[in-house]
Amino acid sequence: MHSCCVIGLGYIGLPTAALFSKKGFKVLGVDINLDTVSQVNKGISPIQEPSLQDEIQNCVKAGNLKASSKPHYADIFVIAVPTPIKLGSKIPEPDLTFLKNAVKSIMPFLKSDNSVIIESTSPVGTTKDLFSLIIEKTGLKENQIFMAYCPERVLPGRIMIEISTNKRLIGGINNESSLKIKEIYKVICDSEVYITDSETAELVKLAENSYRDLNIAFANELSMISSKLGIDVNKVINFTNHHPRVNILRPSCGVGGHCIALDPWFLISQFPEDANIMHMSRKVNIYKTEWTIKKISMFIEKVKNKFNCDPILGIFGLTFKANVNDLRESPALKIAKELAKENKTIFCDPYVNNCIDFINHSVEDTLSNSNILIFLVAHQEFKKINIENKMYLDFCGIFDEI
Ligand SMILES: NC(=O)c1ccc[n+]([C@@H]2O[C@H](COP(=O)([O-])OP(=O)(O)OC[C@H]3O[C@@H](n4cnc5c(N)ncnc54)[C@H](O)[C@@H]3O)[C@@H](O)[C@H]2O)c1
Repeated sequence: MHSCCVIGLGYIGLPTAALFSKKGFKVLGVDINLDTVSQVNKGISPIQEPSLQDEIQNCVKAGNLKASSKPHYADIFVIAVPTPIKLGSKIPEPDLTFLKNAVKSIMPFLKSDNSVIIESTSPVGTTKDLFSLIIEKTGLKENQIFMAYCPERVLPGRIMIEISTNKRLIGGINNESSLKIKEIYKVICDSEVYITDSETAELVKLAENSYRDLNIAFANELSMISSKLGIDVNKVINFTNHHPRVNILRPSCGVGGHCIALDPWFLISQFPEDANIMHMSRKVNIYKTEWTIKKISMFIEKVKNKFNCDPILGIFGLTFKANVNDLRESPALKIAKELAKENKTIFCDPYVNNCIDFINHSVEDTLSNSNILIFLVAHQEFKKINIENKMYLDFCGIFDEI
């Protein structure tokens, strides 16, 4: 039986650890967060994803999954730690501190014939740089270690399904690595597994998320133009998409999450002269959040003047997208915080358990205690709300009939 050490037990690492373990690998999950380690060892998933809790419980019970704050010897090392961006500069750059620390942490346990897999989204060239570092610091020879970048393309909310059903790409630092690591992924993946070199795989991942950002930016730009014209953007998109080769996405109050809002910067900062459309898309999507705040503020002013009152805002949705509990980089959360500075506000997000910023209310309480309803995230629970005779603003197309 192969042993596998998964570094980073977050949205990607924990489902990956569960999957390896389910397929019969002996898995050690490693995280620097001691709460995560303790919860996983009790069979509890700190991440809310459909069916993940049951999988973790079963794997821990079966003795195939353990968690620790320190790595150990294994045949396969999978690294899935965060790769955020450094804020502050005009063009944010990737911050590889977590990734480098994770690689350093496994070095004392690496031995000949081991496979090292990077799943963290990385700038082009990172896997080869980390491979050189491993060779330099461990004294192992280049042909003794297999290494590849294997990007993840799961959809939050469907991670446990997509982690084994999506097509996978293995970007080896050499052909031997690609072939060996492909065999590992063929055990956990029910779909096609393709191989390429590590730089191509790194660029593929960044291209995928930049493409999504760009397409959302188009929808968001169209929504701002439509608004100026007094035309319903959702009607425009519905009719436009009748064209057999056009498929415009839905506008939103901005782009959030740990991937699409960050990853394009990896390419923009590496190629500032070339990545013009990507840069513009980032700017449009960031601006859409500011635009939404301005739109809401103008509406509030109108209501105040008309009714001579201080309206209470009911804010529906705080997460970065519909039907998940993930608040990372959430534009809705940013808008909510901004509105709360100047207005009486009530918040409702059925997916969020703990949000230090707000008290979370039920849909019913929020409806009955607010005067203006503001829909920022199209959670399924909100679709049943009766908006007849209510003052409302919809920034997520929740009441749009497609
Ligand atoms: N979340 C997604 O949907 C998604 C999809 C594709 C790719 N990715 C990429 O996968 C990577 C991980 O993302 P995530 O969403 O799982 O992040 P996450 O924040 O949910 O989890 C990362 C975990 O790594 C731990 N960690 C940090 N440094 C560590 C270290 N040195 N040793 C051990 N543990 C460490 C953290 O405590 C955390 O629990 C990122 O590069 C991300 O861009 C994420």
